Amino acid sequence: MAVFRNIFSNINFVHVPKTYDKLSTKRLLTMSWLEGEPILNFKKSPKETRNTLAANMYKAWYKPFFEFGVLHGDPHLGNYSVQKKDLSINIYDFGCMRIFNGNFIQGVIDLYFALQEKDNSKAVHAYEQWGFTDITKEKLKVLNKWAGFLYSPLMEDKIQKIQESDSGIYGAQIASEVHQELKKLGGVKPPKEFVFMDRAAVGLGSVFMHLKAEVNWYRIFHELIEDFNSEKLMKNQQKALNLANLSI
Ligand SMILES: Nc1ncnc2c1ncn2[C@@H]1O[C@H](COP(=O)(O)OP(=O)(O)OP(=O)(O)O)[C@@H](O)[C@H]1O
Ligand SMILES: [Mg+2]
Repeated sequence: MAVFRNIFSNINFVHVPKTYDKLSTKRLLTMSWLEGEPILNFKKSPKETRNTLAANMYKAWYKPFFEFGVLHGDPHLGNYSVQKKDLSINIYDFGCMRIFNGNFIQGVIDLYFALQEKDNSKAVHAYEQWGFTDITKEKLKVLNKWAGFLYSPLMEDKIQKIQESDSGIYGAQIASEVHQELKKLGGVKPPKEFVFMDRAAVGLGSVFMHLKAEVNWYRIFHELIEDFNSEKLMKNQQKALNLANLSI
């Protein structure tokens, strides 16, 4: 929670509770109350409201990731809420955090460009940075299918839904195909990082589908990564951890 407070200290569309150290112990965490309502209350709101909420959620999740290498891996509906007055996001539950090395984030960005440029050797290198090993041609094809699905909303500079259909059926179908195909190839043990990333992306995607949000995901993503530099990220990360009195 302290790390997230540092990350969002100058940002007005995300709120993180304050901790009261004097009233907290190892087993008891006392924090400020943040009033908000469930995001699904906004399902029938005007289009602009739903789109702003989706964009705020995207940035709330991926700013920590691309600028600090920190990911909140549990974006389920009970772990955040919305302040109606300005559509800002309260984040509550910090029990599922992951801290990544800058090289891994570089791999996530490299994979994006590899897919966009259809450059397979770049893709293999990126998967290796993600922690996949023994990438054969066949495995590459299957992994590209899954990554292509996850990255597809970011590929074109246009306003669009997170995926064309409003149900999760298409995603579930791809996941099951990928699972089957990998099994046929003898199975691939996904790196832990992949599982975290996947879970965050699928969790957020499902909210964006509920909201029927139409957003230029490409623009938001490019704004988040435009100044990316692995060393700078590690410095940002260290600073945010130090301020929170944490070390890894
Ligand atoms: N600071 C807060 N201000 C207002 N409401 C809060 C705050 N923290 C938690 N809540 C409310 O309590 C609910 C549960 O909180 P939280 O997600 O932190 O706990 P949890 O999921 O039960 O715990 P954990 O997963 O850490 O074991 C939230 O959905 C939210 O409604
Ligand atoms: Mg929770």
